[in-house]
Amino acid sequence: MALGDIFCWKMVDFRDRLHRNMFMEDIKIHKRFRADRQCVIYEGGCLDLLRQIPDKSIQLVVTSPPYNIGKEYEKKVRLQRYLENQRKVIEECVRVLANEGSLCWQTGNYVDNGAVVPLDSVLYPFFVEHGLLLRNRVIWHFEHGLHCSKRFSGRHETIMWYTRATKNYVFNLDPVRVPQKYPGKKHFKGPKAGQYSCNPLGKNPGDVWDIPNVKSNHVEKTAHPCQFPVELIERLVLSMTNENDWVLDPYAGAGTSIIAAIRHGRRGVGAEIEHEYIQIARERIGKSINGTLKVRPMHKPKYDPKAAGNKLTKSPWKTEDAQEYLFTG
Ligand SMILES: C[S@@+](CC[C@H](N)C(=O)[O-])C[C@H]1O[C@@H](n2cnc3c(N)ncnc32)[C@H](O)[C@@H]1O
Repeated sequence: MALGDIFCWKMVDFRDRLHRNMFMEDIKIHKRFRADRQCVIYEGGCLDLLRQIPDKSIQLVVTSPPYNIGKEYEKKVRLQRYLENQRKVIEECVRVLANEGSLCWQTGNYVDNGAVVPLDSVLYPFFVEHGLLLRNRVIWHFEHGLHCSKRFSGRHETIMWYTRATKNYVFNLDPVRVPQKYPGKKHFKGPKAGQYSCNPLGKNPGDVWDIPNVKSNHVEKTAHPCQFPVELIERLVLSMTNENDWVLDPYAGAGTSIIAAIRHGRRGVGAEIEHEYIQIARERIGKSINGTLKVRPMHKPKYDPKAAGNKLTKSPWKTEDAQEYLFTG
């Protein structure tokens, strides 16, 4: 990374930290929504929370709903019933979405008897029937998960980003730019020949995001089985909202979306039905407010065990075994 890039990133981090120190200590965690509040975590069903929220008042709805795969917080039901429920929640989320707002629905697959149903595809019509437009289908790639034996192991999920049919939706690219691959590259011909060709603030992060998921060694891990990493939601919050805007997560889990919102001077509201997760969310939000929550920083490079000299990357197998080739080849 070029020195100029490092300077820019440090400035962004410094600005964010300054903002946190100046404004966050006054934040209170409320139990019911009111437009003049900053942080709300509602214990109960998301439809009950949504009924408290006025039309077009939320700038960013971002969530990961249950996938109906029998996780400890959900009862697996027939796909049709699951979809009917999602349809109702989506309809309410569209109602509260601001004119220039964004709605990001993050999903994986529902698996029925070995057959994979990509939830983003089956839910797509529910957004389009309300006039929303799909702006990106972001692939979130991660390394850790179940090892399958009858198909390739799942190592990605998607974020479907919708807006209303307007050209004026909020999209701030600069706060989420990432380092250029070749920052020293110059125009080699034309009127700009010899000048640097890259944007000094970095490049567009693209629509494939390689961000570690929250598994056992992750600094953000709690007892919740499938938390968002804070940095994943920070990228959405910074690019799709402005300060003081509302961010809503109807399935708040361990409160990650609310944390990502208030860390950047936005307002955060979420609903969660499980009391245990409400307690985790409240504790994490409290720590975020007083500055003690451990979070994986947005621009931290991914851990590379080989580069770090981790001994476990040395194969115990003999040279003629296939695995040896994988490790040395
Ligand atoms: C996939 S998890 C979301 C985790 C969250 N993204 C985080 O970072 O922790 C889905 C959550 O929705 C909760 N949930 C399920 N049905 C709900 C409902 N009707 N209203 C509110 N929360 C619900 C579950 O208890 C679970 O914590």
